[in-house]
Amino acid sequence: MTKIKSTAIVVLLSMLVAGSGYSQVAKVSPEKAKMDKFINELMSKMTLDEKIGQLNLPSIGFDVTGPIVSTDVDKKIKSGFVGGVFNTFTPSAVKKLQDIAVNETRLKIPLIFGFDVIHGHKTIFPIPLGLSCTWDVNLVEQSARIAAQEASADGLSWTFSPMVDIARDPRWGRCAEGSGEDPYLGGKIAAAMVKGYQGSDLSKNNTIMACVKHFALYGAAESGRDYNTVDMSYVKMYNEYLPPYQAAVDAGAGSVMSSFNEINGMPATCNKWLMTDLLRRQWGFEGFVVTDYTAINEMIDHGIGKDLKDVSGMALNAGIDMDMVGEGFLLYTKELLKEGKVTIQTINEACTRILEAKYKLGLFDDPYRYISEERANTEILTAANRKVAREIAEQSIVLLKNDNQLLPLQAKGTIALIGPLADVKREMIGTWSAAGDNNKSESVKNGIKNLFGENVTLISAKGCNLLTDRTFLAEICGKESVDPRSDDEMIKEAVEAASKAEIIVAVLGEPAALSGEAASRSDIGLPGRQLDLLKALVATGKPVVLVLMNGRPLILDWESKNVPAILEAWHLGTEAGNAVASVLFGLRNPSGKLTMTFPRNVGQIPIYYNHKNTGRPYAGNDEKYKSRYLDVVNEPLYPFGYGLSYTTFKYSDLKLDKANMKSNETLTATVTLTNTGKYEGTETAQLYIRDCVGSITRPVKELKGYQKVSLKPGESKVITFSITSKDLAFYNDKLEFKAEAGKFILFVGGDSANNLESSFELAQ
Ligand code: BGC
Repeated sequence: MTKIKSTAIVVLLSMLVAGSGYSQVAKVSPEKAKMDKFINELMSKMTLDEKIGQLNLPSIGFDVTGPIVSTDVDKKIKSGFVGGVFNTFTPSAVKKLQDIAVNETRLKIPLIFGFDVIHGHKTIFPIPLGLSCTWDVNLVEQSARIAAQEASADGLSWTFSPMVDIARDPRWGRCAEGSGEDPYLGGKIAAAMVKGYQGSDLSKNNTIMACVKHFALYGAAESGRDYNTVDMSYVKMYNEYLPPYQAAVDAGAGSVMSSFNEINGMPATCNKWLMTDLLRRQWGFEGFVVTDYTAINEMIDHGIGKDLKDVSGMALNAGIDMDMVGEGFLLYTKELLKEGKVTIQTINEACTRILEAKYKLGLFDDPYRYISEERANTEILTAANRKVAREIAEQSIVLLKNDNQLLPLQAKGTIALIGPLADVKREMIGTWSAAGDNNKSESVKNGIKNLFGENVTLISAKGCNLLTDRTFLAEICGKESVDPRSDDEMIKEAVEAASKAEIIVAVLGEPAALSGEAASRSDIGLPGRQLDLLKALVATGKPVVLVLMNGRPLILDWESKNVPAILEAWHLGTEAGNAVASVLFGLRNPSGKLTMTFPRNVGQIPIYYNHKNTGRPYAGNDEKYKSRYLDVVNEPLYPFGYGLSYTTFKYSDLKLDKANMKSNETLTATVTLTNTGKYEGTETAQLYIRDCVGSITRPVKELKGYQKVSLKPGESKVITFSITSKDLAFYNDKLEFKAEAGKFILFVGGDSANNLESSFELAQ
């Protein structure tokens, strides 16, 4: 039997096993029994058309990410042809539609209101990739909690977040929306986001339902091009890409969104193995599944069905409950039922799941629960929310380089503040800040002024436009962003400004719209003439601090060799300018750690720390027939987990409590962490493990734990990590999750590349 065939059989078997578990009768809680009774009674009154109507999710209002299909939505709501609406918010706009649903329809079923609340609603937090660099699940949860409070005050009950797609390719613009490349950290953050949005009681008026997306594997699009094909082995899927989705489901996420890509040759949106066998049967997911934007319709272009009717039937049968925008369910479900291509049971199940979500949100008790002008006026963009946003933004900043302790800056003298991102508000809030008002955000220039007023003299110059294509720039950043002067002229002006200052702070990077959906780039260096500007500034001989704002890892080869200090500031949200100023001047010691590898050049991509060793690993001694490039080293510029501080940390004395561990035992690793520098600082100590020999090949190391520790200068702390056999387990080629006996290497350090190490054996 070939390997492929045997894997397929294994997957099939695992589906059957899981399937048998599904049919077991679970004990029903009194709350569940009450909900079931309510929904059953309601369903018994519903016509087939009304049931199908619940499966329809049109977009009304705001921004769209694809074709507009739905017309006459008000009329459709009245006829009972709409289950929910997205892209409508504010209490008055939501009330208008909810009024139709509860006053003018036969059964008065309330609508659910969704929106892309991705990194804050109106108080905008750092883009998710930046947020993940805090490695702090409490902060992550807090940001989602505030987002839910604000969104629910604005009429919303459902967010299309968290996006938990593992991303190893920085060309993919949507890596900005996720938590980077690691399944372990990604899982922790996914669970924290779900908890933050949903709280402990979904029916409260300040909690909203999460929607985990994009299920599944969307981040593995070939060549980083958005919506592109994904092709992946099951072991890679289970071990490296699926854990964050499962963590979000385990945390109780109420809904899941299907992804645009295919999996094993089948678009996710019609993939029954994915949506039913894995998600519902193996993982026990009890919520509902919505498609991504027109994902059903797009299956025709995928070449998987002949027309909209065909693909709609496939999606429904696969386990999709709600059709976002495409209206295939609305148009064809009745016909499909008549022709025996879908069953009434399938329709009932989908409708039930959607009604259950509304029930859990408390919408049947009070359809206006999330509509309150008073809350909208008092709970959105408050000073308290902004304070948290600033704290989180400060902790998201990653210090990439700091030669001769150039940073922190002294609050004195003259600073040349240069660059097309130094004095703008608009780009600060980043991609997918849909309800965010960029006028409410702080620029870096303002941030410095807020801290020091006139005590620091700033000489400002734009230096160049963000991009050289002015038409495109006007389109994505607004006409006001385009300076009519030539870039050469602006570079000259910037150099003159710099010559009058003691130090140069250059704020450069990507406009917000160069990352996010449909924003893949093949050249991921600083766009436009910004590198020329930077070179001209460095050539003045004055010390240069580079502050980067971007939605993805950039190629920083020249910058890393020639600029003495580099701060990675992402798009930090409403409080961006204040946060950058705090870190520049040392009011906050940076502590962020990268969650995505920074490559040296585009040719190294995809690049990630938890790769396999290969049969010909390169040891660095110029051997020919080894796995290497002839023109660049294998190592990245900045590895996963990397990030400096204004102080320095030393790891010492790594000890394991045993050299041999039985499978029911806990191994304890201790390490001493010392602050060896001059500033108080926070370090994220990271634990990685390598499984040296496995029944399938194993990564060179995998993150298995971390701790964020604050230390005063000279202070030491002993950090303890506990390891159980679950931490050593993985999915083998039969897709069984098991730890295998043998040797393991354990690494502890401040990033994925520089570690102390020790080893132990796991007994049979
Ligand atoms: C995106 C989703 C988003 C949806 C609704 C799609 O194009 O892929 O992430 O939630 O639009 O706005």
